[in-house]
Amino acid sequence: MKLPISSRLLACAGFVAPGDRIADIGCDHGYLSIHLLTNGIATSAIAADVNEQPLRSAMGNAEKYGVRDKMTFFLSDGVRNIPRDFDTLICAGMGADTMIHILTDAPWLKDKKYRLILQCQSKTHELRRYLSEEGWRVTEEAVLRDGRFLYTVMEVYFQPEYPRLTPGEWYFPPAMLENPGPETIEYYHRMVKNLQTAVQARGAKADPRLKEILRELETLAEDPNLRFLKQGG
Ligand SMILES: C[S@@+](CC[C@H](N)C(=O)[O-])C[C@H]1O[C@@H](n2cnc3c(N)ncnc32)[C@H](O)[C@@H]1O
Repeated sequence: MKLPISSRLLACAGFVAPGDRIADIGCDHGYLSIHLLTNGIATSAIAADVNEQPLRSAMGNAEKYGVRDKMTFFLSDGVRNIPRDFDTLICAGMGADTMIHILTDAPWLKDKKYRLILQCQSKTHELRRYLSEEGWRVTEEAVLRDGRFLYTVMEVYFQPEYPRLTPGEWYFPPAMLENPGPETIEYYHRMVKNLQTAVQARGAKADPRLKEILRELETLAEDPNLRFLKQGG
């Protein structure tokens, strides 16, 4: 029986290390945990959701795919009601506001032993800003295509000793330059275009901070090491 898991969730799974005990927050159908367990990547999975219906569906699917004994289920707003004995926390398919709420609610997560894998669906620049200001460091961020959409998956550690991101980096973070592919370049151009549109739409009333961010992003492609960003614009 083939698991109907999306390429987006498979991309999140790609960040999980073999032997990890995972916590999948906002698990919905539970496919991510089930995939990681049936493929012998994760050793155990905490599946949590704030709504009963998705949690019931995850339990049913865990039974169906034979991994019920390796999963525990929690009705929980974020990590409020879950045990703390896991290595990697995954939040996928949520917007920045929900992720910020979940992280703000759980200061105990600010511990170097935890790794976060975040796949944010909207206002990703606001999530990056929040993470940076709170001492979280995005060590790697992959850009992937799903139809005409580009989405990103980030690996995050609590490392407050690292410098904070600049405003331009909230939109196009250095972690994306670790492994840049064609989607990374396309993401860069989309960010520049979105900012140009926002600035032009407001004309003389445009927020000077937005103009500054746009200038920062445009200047980035002038760096001799980053000229490849000019491709395909
Ligand atoms: C769009 S689904 C994404 C499901 C899956 N993670 C994925 O990426 O395909 C969002 C899920 O997060 C759950 N959710 C929303 N807010 C939450 C919160 N504060 N804590 C836990 N789960 C939450 C919803 O009930 C829903 O099942």
